[in-house]
Amino acid sequence: MPLVKPTTVRTGPGSETVPAGRDPFGPDSGRVSAVAGPVPADRAAGTATLLEVTDASVVLGGCAVWSAVNASVTEGEFVAILGPNGVGKSTLLKASLGLLPLASGRVRLLGRAPGEANAGVGYLPQRRSFDASLRVRGLDVVRLGVDGDRWGLPVPGRRSRQAAATVDRLVDLVGAGGYAHRPVGQLSGGEQQRLLIAQALARGPRLLMLDEPLDSLDLPNQAAVAGLISRICREEGVAVVMVAHDVNPILGYLDRVIYLGQGGAISGTPDEVITSETLTRLYGTPIEVLTASDGRLVVVGQPEAPAHHSDRHARS
Ligand SMILES: Nc1ncnc2c1ncn2[C@@H]1O[C@H](COP(=O)(O)OP(=O)(O)O)[C@@H](O)[C@H]1O
Ligand SMILES: [Mg+2]
Repeated sequence: MPLVKPTTVRTGPGSETVPAGRDPFGPDSGRVSAVAGPVPADRAAGTATLLEVTDASVVLGGCAVWSAVNASVTEGEFVAILGPNGVGKSTLLKASLGLLPLASGRVRLLGRAPGEANAGVGYLPQRRSFDASLRVRGLDVVRLGVDGDRWGLPVPGRRSRQAAATVDRLVDLVGAGGYAHRPVGQLSGGEQQRLLIAQALARGPRLLMLDEPLDSLDLPNQAAVAGLISRICREEGVAVVMVAHDVNPILGYLDRVIYLGQGGAISGTPDEVITSETLTRLYGTPIEVLTASDGRLVVVGQPEAPAHHSDRHARS
């Protein structure tokens, strides 16, 4: 389905022109459930700003992670947050959700202050995996998203039947029908990731926030899960903001990227942003973007952010 893409203008690190749009949260803006029918035209039109980060900075452990960050995500868009390890990509998602405080600046998520509209967002944190011995079935993982705080033994009745139908639809949507009855701990990384995406969709979010969902998947699974996420965005009308360490598996699907540096962020189409010139400007050090013969982009010279502490896996 055609999406109207917003116009963004690159004006330098830390700045970005946010597309103008009508009031996205007026009475006619009704949240559309991912488990409902087709996407209404107004929702697919892509004019509402779902996430708006303005001149923001975050300080953790006494150090600025990043500052002067401007970023936005518009209804229906598929946007990637890119940048080297430790630059603060996960921090940007968490600050947007109000899970970490801003030191300065402003965030509006679904038109509200951080933390006030999280029910309208499907958030998949980084590096979630299940212990191999976990007996919980894939279906139950999805059901957890549907029931949320009502998690427990389902009480038979209409609500329970509705929840079961929702789970079935989500399992179909992510193509997990063949294994959703098996214990989740025994499933492959790609299968687990599909079920977690289904869980994140359970409450019909307007926006999916996915933190490195392709991390630790093999290449065929990266391609398959990337294709699934793109399909959810296009066909279900759910905007996606996805952190990625490697842009290549999603390059062909993206409307826009937000490239993060400690001095700010640059936003635009992949063609505009992932260039030697733009990344050199963002990082203030020579960076080369090479295109391999198969079209993959290779970024050379991108500085890893200085570690605040040494164990990368301790933070996410
Ligand atoms: N709770 C914390 N206290 C102090 N520093 C932190 C904390 N969480 C993350 N950091 C630091 O913030 C920086 C950004 O982390 P993160 O957002 O996880 O980066 P990315 O997702 O881009 O790899 C890192 O340097 C990390 O060490
Ligand atoms: Mg991260």
